[in-house]
Amino acid sequence: MTSTYTGLIKNLEYLKLKQMITHLDDVIDFINTNNLSFVDGLTKLTAHEIDFKEANMIRSMVKVGAFPHTKEIKDFDFDFQPSINQQQILDFTTLRFIEAQENLVFLGPSGVGKTHLATSIGIAAAKKRYSTYFIKCHDLLQQLKKARLENRLDARLKHFTKYKLLIIDELGYLPINKDDSKLFFQLIDMRYEKKSTILTTNINFNNWDEVFYDAVIANAILDRILHHAHIISISGKSYRLKDHFKKEGE
Ligand SMILES: Nc1ncnc2c1ncn2[C@@H]1O[C@H](COP(=O)(O)OP(=O)(O)O)[C@@H](O)[C@H]1O
Ligand SMILES: [Mg+2]
Repeated sequence: MTSTYTGLIKNLEYLKLKQMITHLDDVIDFINTNNLSFVDGLTKLTAHEIDFKEANMIRSMVKVGAFPHTKEIKDFDFDFQPSINQQQILDFTTLRFIEAQENLVFLGPSGVGKTHLATSIGIAAAKKRYSTYFIKCHDLLQQLKKARLENRLDARLKHFTKYKLLIIDELGYLPINKDDSKLFFQLIDMRYEKKSTILTTNINFNNWDEVFYDAVIANAILDRILHHAHIISISGKSYRLKDHFKKEGE
């Protein structure tokens, strides 16, 4: 008996099934105590290995996403921001909008939770194995500009087009010149009706021609983003200043 047990461990080691080795004794005890079959035991044992592999995969998807933090929807205080429809946000985390190639635009002043919500939805997508990437608008444009200088713009645009979900944070915080606006348009146009994009911005749509310095380009970008989009307009107080407000009220 001991020798077959040792032999089994050796086999599992050879097959690199570490989790099955770790849980072998527990599972043997469990099936003996509950009088379960060989199939039940093996199912339970392999489930340990699968759970571990899945957890690793999710961790690496989240890492690849380059999120600024790992805050999730459960960490968001909806009571603090009553202008947000909680059910609508929860619906976004079901990722229906990705299947429908729709966009989300979080619009509002600084500190109201735009980046937090965009990140939470991105993490939910990464956990469900949708290829997801988070990038600040300014960094995205820097990368595209560099690629253009190095004659590899097409490849870079294709790279950013392949993500099922691209989160572009802080559109409009820094001005964008005409050439960069065209790069931004190219990317939005390539993703249009194929992939979902989440945008966060503090600029109302009727002021976008000031951000892009050109009303024609601004309109072309807006047209494509808003054609299939959910707009989440947040009009509340800054969460960053909430303790400050509390102190003032005391
Ligand atoms: N309603 C909220 N509940 C919990 N944390 C929040 C809430 N709103 C904002 N925060 C936190 O406050 C900080 C600022 O929010 P952030 O999403 O970066 O704002 P924005 O992108 O709109 O400027 C972050 O640390 C975020 O996690
Ligand atoms: Mg932000």
